[in-house]
Amino acid sequence: MAVCLLFKDSYFITSIMENSSFDTNAMPKFLGGHVWLAGAGPGDPGLITLLCAHALQRADVVVYDALVGPGIMEMARPEAELKYAGKRGGKPSPKQPDITLSLIEYAREGKRVLRLKGGDPFVFGRGGEEAMRLAEAGIPFRIVPGVTAGVGGLAYAGIPLTHRDHNPAVTFLTGHGASGKVPENINWRAIAEGSPVIVMYMALKHLPNITEKLLAAGRDPDEPVALISRATLPEQTVLETRLSRCVADAAAAGIEPPAVVVIGSVVSFREHLDWLKPRTEGGC
Ligand SMILES: C[S@@+](CC[C@H](N)C(=O)[O-])C[C@H]1O[C@@H](n2cnc3c(N)ncnc32)[C@H](O)[C@@H]1O
Repeated sequence: MAVCLLFKDSYFITSIMENSSFDTNAMPKFLGGHVWLAGAGPGDPGLITLLCAHALQRADVVVYDALVGPGIMEMARPEAELKYAGKRGGKPSPKQPDITLSLIEYAREGKRVLRLKGGDPFVFGRGGEEAMRLAEAGIPFRIVPGVTAGVGGLAYAGIPLTHRDHNPAVTFLTGHGASGKVPENINWRAIAEGSPVIVMYMALKHLPNITEKLLAAGRDPDEPVALISRATLPEQTVLETRLSRCVADAAAAGIEPPAVVVIGSVVSFREHLDWLKPRTEGGC
């Protein structure tokens, strides 16, 4: 199965780093008392960076989020303490200040602390807030970027984020502000008029409201839209639709979070660039 191969490839990275001529001296030392705030990519373990794999093999404690893909935590040192900090079905999730405090406390105990998040830690992932608290507490830290879902997810759906005949600009936005509602400080008219491609995170819940705002701001109802759910994972689902009917189509197709929503003519490239299709139809 091709999917298994993807997973095997990620273990291959692990073994390169542990056993062979790979120059680990090229990697920065992960010192006790330091926190590394790293992105694990959108899901496929093959998309984590060498720096992130390096950190997983050295951390004493890994504090990880729900969107860290399956298979990635298996790369951690067997002795490492693994602490889940994501949402648990039905149960209260750990509060942000408690998570940050635990990072500070572990670091003060002299541990090598890996704070692992899905995607990129500085893209809609509260990485900036956590890094600020570490800086205020005087804890040394490093940021390890990751492949964000709004880039990796599009690549796995066969949608080029930019194409010079289509869009000289792209906008990333979140559909879910700190209040739980659509963020109030978004200038929808400016985005509708100025951004040929819009990539939205956490937008499923408020999609009716968001599409209404974009249509009211003059966006073409017939514009192509793609919803990419569980991007880069074996169960990735992509729904292609149009702006005016994306809410109804998403409901009918049962699209589940996590999902990114892409609006723009670049979605049409998927017809030719859906490179995963041969695999899912029984190819490699
Ligand atoms: C709290 S944000 C975290 C974003 C993350 N820091 C990143 O850079 O991708 C969570 C949102 O990211 C998007 N997301 C993360 N992983 C995804 C995946 N594998 N497939 C689709 N969307 C994903 C979804 O919009 C989800 O609601």
